Amino acid sequence: MFFQAIIVGTILFLIVRFIRERQQIVKIAKHFGGPKPLPVIGNLLEFNTDIPGIFETGIRLLKIHGPDTFFWGLFNLYLLVVSSPKNVEKVLLAKNAQKSLLYTFLEPWLRTGLLLSSGEKWFQRRRILTPAFHFKILEQFVAVFNKETDVMVANLRKHVDQQEFDIYSYVTLMALDSICETSMGISVNAQNDPDNDYVKNVKSMSVLFLQRIFDPLVATPILYELIHPRAYKQRRIVQELHNFTDSVIAERRKQLQPNGEKRHNFNQSDENLYSKQKMTFLDLLLSVNVDDEPLDDLEIREEVDTFMFEGHDTTTSGISFTIYELARNQHVQDRIYEEIVSILGKNYREAELTYQVLQDFKYLEMAIKEALRLYPSVPFIGRHLTEDTELDGITLPAGVEILVAIYMIHRNPEVFPDPERYDPERFSEDAESKRGPYDYIPFSAGARNCIGQRFAMLEMKVAIIKLISNYRILPGESLQQFRVRTDLVIRPHTGVAVKLMERV
Ligand code: HEM
Repeated sequence: MFFQAIIVGTILFLIVRFIRERQQIVKIAKHFGGPKPLPVIGNLLEFNTDIPGIFETGIRLLKIHGPDTFFWGLFNLYLLVVSSPKNVEKVLLAKNAQKSLLYTFLEPWLRTGLLLSSGEKWFQRRRILTPAFHFKILEQFVAVFNKETDVMVANLRKHVDQQEFDIYSYVTLMALDSICETSMGISVNAQNDPDNDYVKNVKSMSVLFLQRIFDPLVATPILYELIHPRAYKQRRIVQELHNFTDSVIAERRKQLQPNGEKRHNFNQSDENLYSKQKMTFLDLLLSVNVDDEPLDDLEIREEVDTFMFEGHDTTTSGISFTIYELARNQHVQDRIYEEIVSILGKNYREAELTYQVLQDFKYLEMAIKEALRLYPSVPFIGRHLTEDTELDGITLPAGVEILVAIYMIHRNPEVFPDPERYDPERFSEDAESKRGPYDYIPFSAGARNCIGQRFAMLEMKVAIIKLISNYRILPGESLQQFRVRTDLVIRPHTGVAVKLMERV
């Protein structure tokens, strides 16, 4: 009898809590507006389509209900998607927000490196890693971009005057080679050895991540680990990825020790840390002290792995979507070619691109920025509120998941008239000066903005200059059926089909 009373009491308590929570959520849903939900399953049925279809449905609904839209999930679960500048600002600057739960799918691989960490740990790491993007270091990285892009250009030559082919896979391998060399100082030679285990494992992790996002049954880490056959595969891949990074760290530690490298204490700021040395991200991590202690191998590994992840898919998309737009907009491609010849002179094909010379490519930069407007590499940023927060005049309870829809922000017709049209002139100095700080944010904004944005712009510029110097890029027939999909990074669903003509 006593037990029955406890069970009935607990059930009643849960029902009352559920109803009260529901009432609060309904208020929030009404405030923001969104697609009409079905009982129990909310708006989930709308998303019962293929993977690019899920993205297309989301965008369609955001266009109808936006700029800030409420989506119902199962029972009382929900998601708020924001793209109005005032709410975007509030979410991105919120002190009491962490990365969304979605990002935890990456934790087995990246642990709590810069992308996933929060609080004091994030603050300290950001301070340590910021000098790695000092222009003195970026100058050295540009030499790597030149070398790796030359390999890509050479590998592409077999496609000249041939049928259409997918250029995305070539760009991926080039970006992987570039990030491996700049972050770890080693060459995995992905472009000439795409079957390399490390390369295959990095790609497999992206696929596993994508599969998991769209598999609600295994969204919770415990369920995934316990019941899913893919979890076993993932554990094996993560182990291999970690073994590889561990061995590179151990080898580099050995190489640096005999020279008695001076350690850099990050309790004092050391502006000149990078001025004279040739260093990779790994070397920096191996050479710093935090609170008089060096970072251990695990701490170093999570940062190197984070750079490997954040630093190649993002630039691959940036370059590939720029190529996509240049193939469809020959007049823009022609202007970039003219800019190349006017800056580099008649031996433009052989010219070594330096950090300094890349700053002169103003029109190219506009063309890349416009491609990142239409296809921001990270189309949504996820945040998880850890405290009750006021947004738009209503209180959101702690625990809410919010997506900042960069993809939609960049398609605001009031800021970018005729938003689907590709037009680099939107990024002329004059046009840019008229926009607000939250109207165009491909690299996010606020303290958690992209630490690698200047690195990325340099790599993208080198890639496009070298491609356009050598080839005219034409659209392949399959571009007509072009579709995109997204996990954390936006991708062309079936690649970017182009044809190449040699420039003479
Ligand atoms: C076109 C290229 C790129 C784009 C569009 C891009 C975009 C972004 C965005 C939107 C964020 C914020 C994510 C969030 O708040 O959840 C971010 C963070 C980050 N990005 Fe990038 N990224 C690019 C390239 C790179 C590169 C090349 C690197 C490294 C070499 C890099 C390293 C990072 C890291 C470590 C973070 C986390 C920063 C922090 O939380 O302090 N990114 N990026």
